[in-house]
Amino acid sequence: MSKVTVVGAGKYGSTTAMRLAEADIVDEVVMTDIVEGLPQGLALDINQSRPLLGYRTVITGSNDYAATAGSDVVVITAGLPRKPGMSRMDLLEVNAKIVKDVTVQIAEHSPDAVIINVTNPLDHMTTLAAEVSGFDTRRVMGQAGMLDSARFAHFIAEVTGADIMDVEALTLGSHGETMVPVPSQTKVGGKLLADLVDADAVESLVDRTRKGGAEVVALLKTGSAYYAPSAAAAKMVEAVIGDTGEVMPVCAWMSGEYGISDVYLGVPASLGKEGVKEIVELPLTDTEATALSEAAASVKEKVDELHELDLG
Ligand code: LAC
Repeated sequence: MSKVTVVGAGKYGSTTAMRLAEADIVDEVVMTDIVEGLPQGLALDINQSRPLLGYRTVITGSNDYAATAGSDVVVITAGLPRKPGMSRMDLLEVNAKIVKDVTVQIAEHSPDAVIINVTNPLDHMTTLAAEVSGFDTRRVMGQAGMLDSARFAHFIAEVTGADIMDVEALTLGSHGETMVPVPSQTKVGGKLLADLVDADAVESLVDRTRKGGAEVVALLKTGSAYYAPSAAAAKMVEAVIGDTGEVMPVCAWMSGEYGISDVYLGVPASLGKEGVKEIVELPLTDTEATALSEAAASVKEKVDELHELDLG
C-alpha cells in the first residue's frame, strides 16, 4: 500500500493533497494540521470529487500523526506564508520551530519516508528537516527549483509569444535573493533564449523570476502562491513514488558537485524511491557558476544563524 502525507492543510498543503489524489498514483494521501476539523473537512470535500473526476486515491484528514504512520513520502508545508513586503527570511525563526516539531513526528512515524520540504525559507528549512530527522540526506529534499523554473518558463512564453510547451527553462541556487536563473540552459523551441531576445530582455526575465513569489504575494495580500507551488511539489512526489529517475531542479544536499559541499542548494537531480539518486552537473557559464557559489555561501551563512536560534 502506498501512502503520502502532506503536513499542513493550508492552501499549499490542501492543493498539493488534491493534486496528488487526482493523479491517482497512491492508495492514500493523509493530510494533517493542528486546526481541528480543517484537514478532515477538506479531505471529505476532496474525496467527494472522486466519482466526478474518476480516481481512487482516498484522502484522510487528521490532527494526529498516528494516521501518517508508514508513509512513503511526506511533504512538509506547515508554517506561515509571507505577507506583502516580507522576505522569506523573515519567517526563519517562526517556521523553524514548526518544522522542527513536525519533523520529529515524521521521523518517529515514518522512519523510511522521503521528505520533501516546501516551507520557507526553503533551503534553510530543508536543512533543518534533514538535521532533525537524522535521515540520509538523499531522503530529504526541498521544492523550489521546479516552481522557479516554471515561473521563468511562463514569463518567457509571455514575452516571446512561444507555446509554453516549447519552453525549457532552468533555475538553480537558492529560493530567494540568490536564486540563479540559468539562461545558458534555457531554450525556446530548441533555440537559446539569448538568440531570441536581447540581453536586457533576458535580464528582466531573470529579475522577474527571482521576484516571482513576491509578485504573487503583493497581489494576494493575504498569503503566498499555491497553485504552481503545489503542482511543482506534486511532480516531485510523482517522480519519487514512480521511481522514475526524472531529472528536476530540487533543493538537494551538495557533496562536491559544482565544487560545492555541505549545504542544501537548488540543483538538477534525478529522483527515485530513495529520494535524490544523483545530482546532474550541467555546463554553466562562469557567471552562472559564480552565482551558484554565492548562493551556497549565502545559504550557509543563514544556516549558521539558524543554528544559533533556540528552537525549544
Ligand atoms: C513562492 C513561495 C511559496 O515562491 O515560496 O511562491
